[in-house]
This record gives sequence, structure tokens and C-alpha cells, in this order.
Amino acid sequence: MSKRKVTTLGQFIIERQDDFPYAKGELSRLLRDIGIASKIVNREVNKAGLVDILGEDGTVNIQGEHVKKLDVFANEQFISALTCGGECCAVGSEENEHVVDIRSDVSKNAKYVVAIDPLDGSSNIDVNVSIGTIFSIYRRTSLSGPGVLNDFMQRGTEQVAAGYIIYGSSTMLVYTTGRGVNGFTLDPSIGEFCLSHPDMKIPKQGKIYSINEGYYVHFPDGIKKYIKYCQEEDDKTNRPYSSRYIGSLVADFHRNLIKGGLFIYPSTAQAPKGKLRLLYECNPLAFIIEQAGGKASDGYRRILDIQPTDLHQRTPIVIGSHDMVSKVEEFLRKHSPVVAV
Ligand code: AHG
Ligand code: MN
Ligand code: MN
Repeated sequence: MSKRKVTTLGQFIIERQDDFPYAKGELSRLLRDIGIASKIVNREVNKAGLVDILGEDGTVNIQGEHVKKLDVFANEQFISALTCGGECCAVGSEENEHVVDIRSDVSKNAKYVVAIDPLDGSSNIDVNVSIGTIFSIYRRTSLSGPGVLNDFMQRGTEQVAAGYIIYGSSTMLVYTTGRGVNGFTLDPSIGEFCLSHPDMKIPKQGKIYSINEGYYVHFPDGIKKYIKYCQEEDDKTNRPYSSRYIGSLVADFHRNLIKGGLFIYPSTAQAPKGKLRLLYECNPLAFIIEQAGGKASDGYRRILDIQPTDLHQRTPIVIGSHDMVSKVEEFLRKHSPVVAV
């Protein structure tokens, strides 16, 4: 029986390093550091039910959300791996109000900054549902000294790399450096991420829509009408669609990337700017989905074109199969036109 060649994440990164004519391996090492931290987080996620790491640690993060212990652990692991790796000078994390300066003797010339959601889907930690980590990598714009907020105030189009880890039935790392999307599955027997999903592409059209319909009454009219459109009977356009909502962005996103589909977290009466954060949830996933042939907007504007003004700013998001995102934008233009301010 022919043995399929196993390509580990490390081998793949080195092989693809030639994509970057001026690369001296810094980005390769930075991606390696993220891979290392994700294996450590994965180990804790897998035994979360067994050790005292479940539940809340009593603090509240800057989002005003009760922080689960695994959020804190994951945040510490990624910051520690990036600090030791020496290729990153600053981290912008969901769990830290301000930019975290991680320079050391090793990293004083580091040229990258990383925005990260160390644990996405926190509300699902205690109920054994898939959770994830989302990361976004930029070149620093400041010339020297500690990484500063301005290093993160770059449009999503400026990202050098972006990816996520999903801690699910298997643990996968999916990332892009702007030359396609590749997925790696962790093989626990060798402790390596192995290439399992080369050159991932999302179907242009799908049959799954993912939105928290519990907030229906608070949605803009265009979104309400789109949800009814998904539920209508129409053989020609394969409707009604299926509704799937896991409540972990990474898990809903990953399912859509593989099967085709659409995820929407719109603006609502309570959250006029939406709930999801631009820098470490929406931008990295928008980079990935565009590289996979999909689309990501706030319903009106391309996510990657939004100029950030705050580390934790939120944005509505419509992301997934290209034609499904365009259809939502059509409904919003017609029923919830943006009033020019
Ligand atoms: P996080 O755990 O990093 O705060 O992210 C949670 C997000 C996202 O994962 C998910 O899609 C969304 O919250 C679910 O929000 P609702 O519970 O309001 O539907
Ligand atoms: Mn999140
Ligand atoms: Mn989080």
C-alpha cells in the first residue's frame, strides 16, 4: 500500500519560505512558535474536564466578560511562546486591555506584531463544544522600541499572515500567508501538525446559514428578510437552507470553509457595531476566506478595507461563500440602506 508523504507544518513552512524572496526565516519561526503554543493549549483543552481549569477565574476582561480559566491559560501560553520565540515585539490580545510589549534581548529587533483571540468560543468551554484560537500577523510600522498601538492600526489588507486553531474532534491549524489556505491536523502520536487539507477553497454557494436567531427582533430589516429568504422553499436555489449555529466563531467558520455556507453576526440594537472584534476575529478570518475564494464584509464594506482605530473595536460581519455574502449585501442595500453620516 503506497505510504502517503507526511508533510509537517514545520517542513511546509520551510518549503513555502521561498514564496518570500527576502524572507530570512523570521515569519517561519513566528508561525512555528504559534504552533508550539497551540499544542500546549490543545493538551489542556483535551483534559479540561479533568483538572481544575474549567469554570471562571473570577476576573472580568476588558470586554466586560467573565473570564474562563482556559482563556487565561491560553493567553499566557501564546504570549510566552511569542516572547521566547523572539520574532514578535508586541501582542494585542482580547484578554489584555492594552498592547503587551514582549520585547526581550532575543526580540529587540523583532519586526512582527501579533493580534490574537487566545480562546474563541469561551462560553462553550464547560460544555465540551469545539473552541479555537485566532491570530493575525502584521509587520510593525514603528521603527524601534516597544511595539505600540499604532503597529496594530493597519487595515486587514496589510496582514502578513493569519490563521486559526480549532480544538475539536481533531485539532487543526489553518493559515494563509497570502498564497492560498492550508490546513494541518495534529497527529498526537508524533505531536506534529501534518498537512491534511492542502489549498483549501470554499464553495461559491452553500446550503448552510449560521446566525444567532435568538436576536431576530433586534436585527436590521435586511437581515430579517434574508433569514426569511433562507427559509423559503425553492428547488432552483436549493432552499430552504439548513441553519447551524455552534456559538464558537472558529467552529462555525471552519464548517463553512469546508462545506460552503455563511456566518453572520450583524449589528443589533444592543450591539450597534456588532459583537465580533475586527483585529483578532474578523480580519484574520476575512484574509483566510478571501484566499479560499470566499468573501467577508460588514454587510456594506469589505472587512479587510476597514481602517482600525481601536485595539478591541467591533464590527458586524457577513463571511463565507462568495455568492451568499453578496446576496446578504443585496438585501441590506435594499432594506437597510446605510444612511450617509
Ligand atoms: P470569545 O469566546 O472569544 O469571546 O468569542 C465568542 C464569540 C464567537 O466565538 C461566537 O461566534 C460569538 O461570540 C457567539 O456570540 P452569541 O453568544 O452572542 O451568539
Ligand atoms: Mn472570539
Ligand atoms: Mn476569546
